[in-house]
Amino acid sequence: MSLPGPWDSWLSDSIGELERGSRLRELRPVSPAHADATRVSIDAATLAAWRRATTMHADGGGASSAPRGGSSSPHSDPPSLRHERGLVSASISGRRTGLAPNPTAVAVADGSSFQPPSSAFPSFPSSPSPPPPSSTPTTTLTLFSTNDYLGLSTHPCVRAAAARAAASLGCGPRASALVPGAYTTMHRELERSLARLKGTEDALLFPTGFAANAAAMAALCGSTGGGKGGEKDLVVVFSDELNHASIVDGARLAARGGNGIGSSSSSSSSSSSPRVKIVIYPHKDSRFLDAALSDETLVPRGARTLVVTDSLFSMDGDVADLRSLAQLRRKHGFLLVIDEAHATLVLGPRGGGAAEALGVPAGEVDVHVGTLSKAFGAHGGFVACSGRARSLLLNAGRPFAFSTALPAPAVAAALAALAVAGGEEGGREGPRLRARVWSHARRLGRALGVEVSSPIVPLVLGGEREALAASGFLLERGLHVPAIRPPTVPRGTSRLRVSLSAAHSDEDVGRLIDALGELGFVKGGGEGRSKL
Ligand SMILES: Cc1ncc(COP(=O)(O)O)c(C=O)c1O
Repeated sequence: MSLPGPWDSWLSDSIGELERGSRLRELRPVSPAHADATRVSIDAATLAAWRRATTMHADGGGASSAPRGGSSSPHSDPPSLRHERGLVSASISGRRTGLAPNPTAVAVADGSSFQPPSSAFPSFPSSPSPPPPSSTPTTTLTLFSTNDYLGLSTHPCVRAAAARAAASLGCGPRASALVPGAYTTMHRELERSLARLKGTEDALLFPTGFAANAAAMAALCGSTGGGKGGEKDLVVVFSDELNHASIVDGARLAARGGNGIGSSSSSSSSSSSPRVKIVIYPHKDSRFLDAALSDETLVPRGARTLVVTDSLFSMDGDVADLRSLAQLRRKHGFLLVIDEAHATLVLGPRGGGAAEALGVPAGEVDVHVGTLSKAFGAHGGFVACSGRARSLLLNAGRPFAFSTALPAPAVAAALAALAVAGGEEGGREGPRLRARVWSHARRLGRALGVEVSSPIVPLVLGGEREALAASGFLLERGLHVPAIRPPTVPRGTSRLRVSLSAAHSDEDVGRLIDALGELGFVKGGGEGRSKL
């Protein structure tokens, strides 16, 4: 279908450019397997297209062999696969460490106080009957690519709560949370529970974590609407260079005057917008921050300052030095905003996140952003903060006000996830689930000879070609470990991103270690079982 006028050639050029840079992504539909959070089936045609995409750099395009699952011998590998392995091994021996630094180890609770689920939730089968047989041949993949760190997306209590809410309340929330009818007492209950988890006065739900960051950054960098100008209306935002895209975009929105006070719904710019200066600081560099915050040419007297950081970095798996940031906050008086998207429910004895795990008191962090879409296994975002900050976000956070509220099944699922894995005493199963995912992470760390800080383990290869080849090789072994390339990570740091889940079995992790051993990642070639 052609587009009018110059649009057609513009679209072709844009797509051509993505193709030439091997950045044209595809959506690959899979079928979840038997309510198992770590496994999917994929049909042969989709898998073949996927394999072509991962091998195109390694062999000039389109190597193809029948999918073999996880048990084949490398000696029977087709030439293309041997080529992939050679490419990756050469890259690893060239940069022997091959791994992103993970300097901050964070302890998670051990599993000593696990209690079986109570009868507070209706039972939901943990292994429902298998889906009807399909006529197309499929391959089963084990996923090391999701953010479902505790396996809660398929937990019986979480599924039952969502199903019950859908059955009794329906699916679509119908309007923005500001419109009566869309925001229910259950939404409010979840906000209060999240505030308790984070130790803040209150919390506000958002349609996604992305919206939560965008709204928080834009609203907090807004002006009072008085439009007085001067340094009082200058906000200097310090943002870690590896922060998530939603923080980056939120800061950009703030710099363009994207808060809602004094601006109409059709235009985000307002004469009362403050000036917002964004300073990107080197990853976790507290010394740089200290010096920059003391520099009056950068931060004139009277300016408001804000430091924003991921707490657990999504592509590196390392943890921000929140203790140093809290100290600097006391010294310089900036607003500390942390994004706990990957850390909430995963780190800390109660699942409170990295701040809790590092012993940083709740009052030393001003704004906690989070998502319900990762370890919660549900969907949505939230900001936990003071009651007054919540009031500002509610009124000035455009991604909150001008978007539809969270659906009731997602809210119910998140509440159930909290009961299972967070809050007082860490939830009914939280200690056990956190201990389990942590034990997988430690086992992988031992095999790779690196210290791990979280269930996210990056294997940095450098080149895009090598990262794609490694991912393609693992795909052939029935394991999905995504290749992460620019612009998601800086050029020259393309990598495999392994994410582990409590839902993985010990055997799953063993298969991963063996396959990584074949690629040359594992010290000594694996746990004494390498096929190389
Ligand atoms: C650090 C971080 N913050 C925020 C988000 C956005 O969360 P959501 O997926 O709920 O929009 C993500 C998602 O990838 C993330 O990794």
